Amino acid sequence: MDYPGLDEKNRLIIVSNRVPYNITRIRNELVYKKSVGGLVTALDPILRKTGGLWIGWSGFARNSRFVEKKVNVPRENNDSYELKLVNLSHDEIIDYYGGFSNRTIWPLFHGFIFQSYFDATYWRSYQKTNRKFANEVLQEATEDDIIWVHDYHLALVPGILRNKNDKLKILYFLHIPFPNYETFRVLPWASKVIEGILGSNLIGFQTRRDAINFLACCKEILGLEVDFYKFIVKFHNRFIHVINIPISIDYNHFFNYANKQETIKLENRIKKSLKNIKVVLSVERLDYTKGIKERIRAIDYFFETYPKYKGKIIFLQIVVPSRSKVEEYITFKEEIDEMIGKINGKYSHEMWSPITYIYKSLSQEKLISYYKVSDICLITSLRDGMNLIAKEYVACKIGGSGVLILSKFAGAVEEMKERAVLINPYYIEEIANKVKLALEFDENEKVQNMIALQEQVKQNDVFKWCKSFLNYFYLNQI
Ligand code: UDP
Ligand code: G6P
Repeated sequence: MDYPGLDEKNRLIIVSNRVPYNITRIRNELVYKKSVGGLVTALDPILRKTGGLWIGWSGFARNSRFVEKKVNVPRENNDSYELKLVNLSHDEIIDYYGGFSNRTIWPLFHGFIFQSYFDATYWRSYQKTNRKFANEVLQEATEDDIIWVHDYHLALVPGILRNKNDKLKILYFLHIPFPNYETFRVLPWASKVIEGILGSNLIGFQTRRDAINFLACCKEILGLEVDFYKFIVKFHNRFIHVINIPISIDYNHFFNYANKQETIKLENRIKKSLKNIKVVLSVERLDYTKGIKERIRAIDYFFETYPKYKGKIIFLQIVVPSRSKVEEYITFKEEIDEMIGKINGKYSHEMWSPITYIYKSLSQEKLISYYKVSDICLITSLRDGMNLIAKEYVACKIGGSGVLILSKFAGAVEEMKERAVLINPYYIEEIANKVKLALEFDENEKVQNMIALQEQVKQNDVFKWCKSFLNYFYLNQI
């Protein structure tokens, strides 16, 4: 195993809110369904390579039909690893997951202060559930293992583990943005959240800006000694290192999948049905941070301003159901359904509609075929930790034809800004104008840009991300 510090004795233990497979028992059979989201896409291939253990929630309420606590995944392959499932009660799903994680931290960290709820019941549940996850870790981990805690749901876990055992090796990675001091200090429990994260030996963020924001909050909120040059913060006589290291995808997996016979067959079938109509693709979980409403307004403006494109292009919107019991997500879905209905009603004629709207989770084959047939991938996130769709689209564009239009506010922009077309997603006219520009790009220019982007993602895949993170930890003897 060529991963720094990992071997038979030193296991990698990933801890995240959600495990990569939702598992249920249907008529005595275990049914596995891959979960959706950037964290899972990135970390599943890592554990397949390194082996180890992944601790997280199964995705369901405590369920008597499902009794197993540990299972091996994926079932069909040799490169499997172990999952330990944490059960959440109905109240924990509402208050810890739907509440503090997704109605407090998620909106606040993405800069949506007025959409954040500060509720003591949510906070109590968050603390309790973080203790529950930490206890599950303590039952498994030894001082030789590397415990790698992920994302905003579990910010208190490193602190709880550290209080139990000073010798544990604890890493933490935040997949979403870390807000600036002015925003973060709005959180009534800001100091507790930072102290929790500081239980780690090494803390990773997607971008340099996120890392600096975190360090500034350590200084301003807790009054800690911070070295902004070396990215080190002193807490309880320990020196905690902070790095920015952008997450990525398993490039070869996407590239090879795009080349598979089945994918090519499906791609050809879709192309045939399109009859030369160009495709502008957007894919995301149904989430207000993705700028879906702004994009629909831009589509309206686009056809108003450039009517010659009616009947010539479609905007393909793939929206994956997400957090569908959380109030903001329910109303958001109703709003976008209505907006799309209006635009389609306004512009459709006989056999053509401007927006094709698919509201479901797709198989990888289908998703990759859609990447391949699309002339443009349009990403309009109002704020995004990284956005792996941008990297997946690029990996699948064999031959290099296609344009990536990318929001300036997605973490991916730091690595892709030279060759992507950048937009401010709040500026509707700019989105529409950049789509027109991209449709009229010279073919050579498109290919040159796409090949450069491919090289970038290929050289910086998720395995490199993982190795760099572990390497930093070992080389610095933290
Ligand atoms: N995805 C998926 N099924 C779908 C559509 C998307 O599994 O039907 C995956 C996609 O491949 C990508 C992830 O969802 O890896 C979305 O990650 P991203 O970083 O763009 O956003 P996040 O959902 O993490 O906010
Ligand atoms: C983002 C978060 C992940 C989360 C995913 C899907 O990628 O960073 O931690 O798993 O969204 O959201 P969900 O609420 O369904 O787990």
